[in-house]
Amino acid sequence: MVNLKTELCGITLKNPVIAASGCFGFGQEFSQYVNLSELGGIALKALTVEKRLGNPSPRIAETPSGILNAVGLQNPGVDYFLAEEMPKLKDLDTVLFANVAGSTIDEYCQALDKLNDAPVDFIELNISCPNVSEGGASFGMYPQAVTEIVTNCKAVCKKPMFVKLSPNTADISATAIAAQYAGADGISLINTLKGMAIDVYKQRPILANITGGLSGPAIMPVALSMVYSVAQVIDIPIIGMGGISSGEDAAAFMLAGASAVMVGTMNLVYPDATMRVIKGLKEYSDKMGIKNIADIIGQLKTK
Ligand SMILES: Cc1cc2nc3c(=O)[nH]c(=O)nc-3n(C[C@H](O)[C@H](O)[C@H](O)COP(=O)(O)O)c2cc1C
Repeated sequence: MVNLKTELCGITLKNPVIAASGCFGFGQEFSQYVNLSELGGIALKALTVEKRLGNPSPRIAETPSGILNAVGLQNPGVDYFLAEEMPKLKDLDTVLFANVAGSTIDEYCQALDKLNDAPVDFIELNISCPNVSEGGASFGMYPQAVTEIVTNCKAVCKKPMFVKLSPNTADISATAIAAQYAGADGISLINTLKGMAIDVYKQRPILANITGGLSGPAIMPVALSMVYSVAQVIDIPIIGMGGISSGEDAAAFMLAGASAVMVGTMNLVYPDATMRVIKGLKEYSDKMGIKNIADIIGQLKTK
């Protein structure tokens, strides 16, 4: 039987499969389908310092092999989370990532400060949302903006901090390097790819927000190549995601350099998608004679 343990910043995960942020609520929503303590980890829905209602509907559109979403950071705010949701999570035997977002650096820092004493293991800094003070581009698009936000957040954050990169950038390696040098303890990637769908009979965009973020199996080849590129240039751990639906998919991300993986959109298709990926990873390991899954991290053969 394979040992599925993996390590991130000195913290051991019982397996490399983490539920991705925004696709698993605050965990409890999935507890009738998934034994939450069997997961490697849970990345919670993005939290902002104040409650947000998100974007107008429609906010989701199906695409071939994926979905477009423009949920827009709907969440009850950090204080509500700490009072109402955190108590339900604290006894779970899994690793928790609090995903943090904001419109300004100050908003990120306020949220991080409030989370410093919460019993979560990691912060996942979501820098893929629009930066209002700089005109709506995301913080994650340009290396200089990444440096600024990560430096400021790291100064406040007392927990190991993964920076979640946006694929909507000219050079993902440059933003990853910027995050590492600004103090990130790890990198998670990818967030959704900017996309659009049009109802040609109504002659209108399908999403009320006009554009949205593409996720699901459609983006996996893009995500894999980005994880592979980033793994060549940084030496902090990587969590890979983008379209994972099977154990083989998870193994592909690990071979490309990810120490762990996240499963997002597939939870909306199969609520037990994370369990399927864990089972599939065991079967893959047995077929391949792998004793420790961590042994395959970054072991892609390119020659
Ligand atoms: C409906 C929806 C909501 C999401 N919300 C968040 C979020 O709050 N914070 C975040 O960092 N990523 C969010 N994401 C991005 C996912 O965590 C993940 O990075 C992306 O969807 C790619 O993985 P997947 O193809 O497995 O879904 C969201 C994705 C979807 C589909």
